[in-house]
Formats: sequence, C-alpha cells, structure tokens
Amino acid sequence: MASPLKSLVDDDDGYDKSLTVYKVHSSGHQPREDFIRTILPEQLASIGDGKSINIIGLGAGEGNIDMEMLSQLRRKHPGVLLDNEVVEPSAHRILRYKERAAQMFHLDPVNFTWNQMTASEFEEQWRQRNITKKIDFIHMLHMLYYVEDPGATVRFYQSLLRKNGKILISILSAESGYVKMWKAFSTQLNPPGTRTWFPERNTADIKQLLDEAGIQYQSYKSPAVLDITDCFTEGNEAGELILNFLTETVNFRKTAPQELRDGVLRTLRDPQCCTEKNGRILLNKNEDFFILEASD
Ligand SMILES: C[S@@+](CC[C@H](N)C(=O)[O-])C[C@H]1O[C@@H](n2cnc3c(N)ncnc32)[C@H](O)[C@@H]1O
Repeated sequence: MASPLKSLVDDDDGYDKSLTVYKVHSSGHQPREDFIRTILPEQLASIGDGKSINIIGLGAGEGNIDMEMLSQLRRKHPGVLLDNEVVEPSAHRILRYKERAAQMFHLDPVNFTWNQMTASEFEEQWRQRNITKKIDFIHMLHMLYYVEDPGATVRFYQSLLRKNGKILISILSAESGYVKMWKAFSTQLNPPGTRTWFPERNTADIKQLLDEAGIQYQSYKSPAVLDITDCFTEGNEAGELILNFLTETVNFRKTAPQELRDGVLRTLRDPQCCTEKNGRILLNKNEDFFILEASD
C-alpha cells in the first residue's frame, strides 16, 4: 500500500519554513562554527599549489557553511584562486547559494561552477569526461545520508585528491536522539523500495567503513541540541514545523498513522534521546567531523 506520508524533501517551501524554525530552536551552533573557524583552517593550511585551490562541495545546500569555509580559505591563502565546484541537486537551493555568493564574493571573486545534480551523477560525469584535474579540498557535510554506497563514494572522491588534499565529512552521531528515532522508525517513515536516503546513517557507520577500507582519519565531536518542547503541544506552529523537519514529512502530525505519531513523540522524549533543562526538552543532535587525507 502506498505510504500516506509525503516527503518534505519534495516540498521546497515547506522545507524552507521548517528549516528556519529548526535553526532558531537549535543551540550549539558554536561548536560547529568553532570547528570551521579554528580547526579547519589549520587542517587546510598546506593544501593547494600556491596558485589555486580546487574545491568540490557535495550537497552544498544554500551554501551557508560553504561561505564560512571559503572565507577561511581566503584568509589562510590570500591571493590564491579558489575554484569551487558546487554539487547540489536542488535548483531552489542552488539559486539561494548563487544569490549569497554574489553578495559575499563580488569584490574578491571565487570561480564557481554550478552542478545541479547528485553526488553520484557528478561522479559519473567526471568518469565519462575522463577529467584529470586534481582536487585540494572536498567536503560532504550531512550529505552521506543520500548515497546508496557511502564507502564507494568516499573512495571515489578520495581518488580525486591532489597530494596534501583533504576531505571533510560531517554526519550525525550514533548517540544523537535524531539517529535513534530514525533507527526505530525508518521503515515506516521511509518505506523500503521508495528509499532514496538513509537518515539513520551515522558516525558509527562512517567509522566502520573507513576502518574497513584502511582509510586514516581524524575525528572531532561537535555537540548540539534542538529544543523540541513545542513538538509536544498539539497545534503549536513551531512545534509542528520542527516535527515535520525531524521526520522529513509534510504535515506529520495530521498525516501519520496514530501509532507512528505516538511512537515518534514517545521516542523523541525518551531520556536516551533528550535531556530536560529549565523545563525545556532538548534533543541531542551531536555531529562529528571527519578529516581524511589523500591516499598515497
Ligand atoms: C542536510 S543538507 C546539508 C547542507 C549543508 N551541506 C550543511 O551541512 O549545512 C543536505 C543537502 O544535500 C542535498 N542532497 C540530497 N541528495 C543528494 C545527493 N544524492 N547528492 C548530493 N547532494 C544531495 C540536499 O538537497 C541538501 O541540500
């Protein structure tokens, strides 16, 4: 039977509205920004050939975090040309990215190439065109949920790195409430056969595949929480939007079968997934960053 649930990913306006509220209710952006502003620039200090830095950003979204990384690269490598391949399947998000990039880099241009496609399509295009260009920095931040075989994806992109090149991956932690909820309900929220993404994928899966492939990495924890208190007040607009975002479902409370709705809410409130502080319910959404180097 067809699922009654409609994916939020296919609803640009609904996704944007939910994302905005989700960001407002998220705290702990600071560790993510600290990582990008302090640890990453040191990690990227030795990339490039002194003239240009070639970058590929996979699943770049609207480019918020890309802007920060590009600015940090500018600071670390003044006068070096930044050549940035943006890979993002959503036309809507690419448009937003272009608007931001035009504002931010009009004085000190970055060479942008826009690829409205998935990471796998980009890989196929790269292979078909026999491109030999080597890349200095590849990032895939919260993108590996969307590929069928993350190990193959990481190996392919690692093969594109120039000497001293780096890959940056981020993904939700295995202990996060978000991952625990998705592990419990992925079959109902995202029925097999229709699955194009794997939101329950997490740090443990990435560590396992890197270890199995013998790929060296460094990892960094980035703690964060999401205030989900409003999700437990039926009809609260912010709460409904956050719930839609967490379940990636349009109008989750109204369209999900009662058993699923109750199960998701019960799990989110479980002490294994959240903590309570000053009367607020805070969902654990820790993420980890991984830095991989070029293989010899
Ligand atoms: C959770 S957002 C992450 C955005 C940004 N990287 C960040 O960390 O803030 C995931 C992005 O990946 C994009 N995406 C979805 N499927 C993809 C795929 N198969 N290949 C590349 N990107 C994909 C989505 O459109 C979305 O913009």
